[in-house]
Amino acid sequence: MIAVPDSVSTAIPEIRTELLAWFDASGRELPWRLGTEGARDPYRVWVAEILLQQTQVARGLHYYDRFLEAFPSVQALAEAPIEAVLKAWEGCGYYARARNLHRAAKVIVQNGFPADYSGWLALPGVGPYTAAAVASLAFGEARAVNDGNVRRVLARLYGEARPTDAWIQARADALLCPARPGAWNEAVMDLGATVCTPKAPRCAECPLSAHCAAFKRGTPTAFPAPKVRAAARMVQAVAVLIGDEREAVLERREGGLLGGLMGLPMLEFGPQQTEVTVLEELCARLGARPGELLGQVQHSMTHRQITLHVYAAASALPRQTVADAALSRLDHKALELLRTRQESLFAAPLMDGSSV
Ligand code: ADE
Repeated sequence: MIAVPDSVSTAIPEIRTELLAWFDASGRELPWRLGTEGARDPYRVWVAEILLQQTQVARGLHYYDRFLEAFPSVQALAEAPIEAVLKAWEGCGYYARARNLHRAAKVIVQNGFPADYSGWLALPGVGPYTAAAVASLAFGEARAVNDGNVRRVLARLYGEARPTDAWIQARADALLCPARPGAWNEAVMDLGATVCTPKAPRCAECPLSAHCAAFKRGTPTAFPAPKVRAAARMVQAVAVLIGDEREAVLERREGGLLGGLMGLPMLEFGPQQTEVTVLEELCARLGARPGELLGQVQHSMTHRQITLHVYAAASALPRQTVADAALSRLDHKALELLRTRQESLFAAPLMDGSSV
């Protein structure tokens, strides 16, 4: 059987010209885009691509500047203690990424920056997406990236509701502009982030609408169909705050739940246990005296929804300066309980009806 080319495949040269013209006029100015196209600073590009794997650009910018200020070069990153790297990563989540950045920085200081896709792929924490992004943006290698934005743009362009990773990669490879691979990759990502958005695409502003199957059918948001995700597991845990929001007893977390970060002493519990018995068990382990309930905080992670019951407790254990430790957002929310409680105590009316 002879394969009939689809309408996108026959228009690839126009699609490249139109999208790149749009990108040259409307692409975003982002801090890792400094320098010559296809020959950018690999360190800045690499850090950005790792950071942006689970963080949107708007939110990532602040973290990016903070990280680059703390570690302006790969040497600075390689020489820093891991605690400082985790601290600079605070708030970005998925701390394995920071550990891998640190490990890979040590390799790069020894061997130099890899100059191609397979060299990047061999570094800790670098998968096909990051290797393709760094190889194309910093070295001009013709490698197509495949991330959430690319998936959405291509699913709509071709009118494919259920694209597999292999399907997307094959289309992305075919569309990639060999003369400007880095600009092409960023153009598709920018189009996905600013025009071909998930819920309210701005098709009237899209340089590719004339070629877009989903636009022609009048149902762009139907592509791609939502992925069916496994429900998040509900996790209950008790934590104790010994100290205050500035100085508290902190422990290094082990295991899956926020492993490697520092946090308030915490114990997960199952449906057979009660909060009070778990609090007692936790306090017995610490040699602490349980105090009052400060409140509950909720925290969502990719596969878990955590409810943390936070209690005050008293103990002679040494306290650490909270500002110096890398804490998860869950722990920041727990510490915040103390501050909001103090504010509400201060704001509470006095017996005579006034307030302080
Ligand atoms: N998302 C991830 N990497 C990006 C990049 N280089 N430009 C725009 N958005 C991105």
